[in-house]
Amino acid sequence: MTPEERATSIDKYRRRAAGYNRSAQHTMALRRRVIDLLQLCPGEVVLDVGAGTGLSYEWLLQAVRPVVGSGTGRVLAFEQSPEMFAQAHARAVAHGWRTEGADASLWHVCASAHEVLLPCAPDAILFNYVHDILRSRQALAHLLVQARPGARVAVAGIKFFPWWAGPLNLLPWLKNWPYNTRAGELWRPWDHLQQHCASWTVQSVHAGMGYVAWGRLRDERAASGAASG
Ligand SMILES: C[S@@+](CC[C@H](N)C(=O)[O-])C[C@H]1O[C@@H](n2cnc3c(N)ncnc32)[C@H](O)[C@@H]1O
Repeated sequence: MTPEERATSIDKYRRRAAGYNRSAQHTMALRRRVIDLLQLCPGEVVLDVGAGTGLSYEWLLQAVRPVVGSGTGRVLAFEQSPEMFAQAHARAVAHGWRTEGADASLWHVCASAHEVLLPCAPDAILFNYVHDILRSRQALAHLLVQARPGARVAVAGIKFFPWWAGPLNLLPWLKNWPYNTRAGELWRPWDHLQQHCASWTVQSVHAGMGYVAWGRLRDERAASGAASG
């Protein structure tokens, strides 16, 4: 993502933040399903990529069940739009989730995917509707190297209909454009992430205009060890 794309994204969400939760209502069931695909267990660490207004926080916290003071069961999250992050933080405060301290059950920061430094390695990573991050090889490389080898990943997003749908594809493009700078890259929006994975499954949803995908990161260290050994 170039500095110009970053500024454009922040500007788009400055204008969309107030109405964001309302606009997301029709995709809440799918968001929930993607979290279930992560198969989270109590005690695990999960990363919410581009967390937006924190719509997934409550479900993620329920799944990893933080134990106060033990540092087990944590949700890590980051979001680069100050207006979206302010809502996520207000949500945390309203629920009384602990966001301060080295073992906070919810660690979240207003930061870019290209720069964020996580306090510990996630066991699982959620990519709910974060098209621009998925389309940045640099952002993915920066994030995934901080995860546990073999970490589970799950994604939901918008995609084009099959090529034969022709002009109908104006619809997903128009839906994507208000929120994303790389609105045209909708044929296989998951393909950069898939390259980091040892296993990968994609399902078409919303009559072909959406997708969910899930898999496991490759163990890059084992792969490079085997190559050099
Ligand atoms: C469509 S929203 C999805 C938010 C949330 N994941 C959800 O399910 O509601 C996409 C979010 O990604 C954030 N975003 C886009 N590019 C980013 C980047 N490079 N670093 C961090 N956040 C980014 C946007 O600011 C926006 O809040």
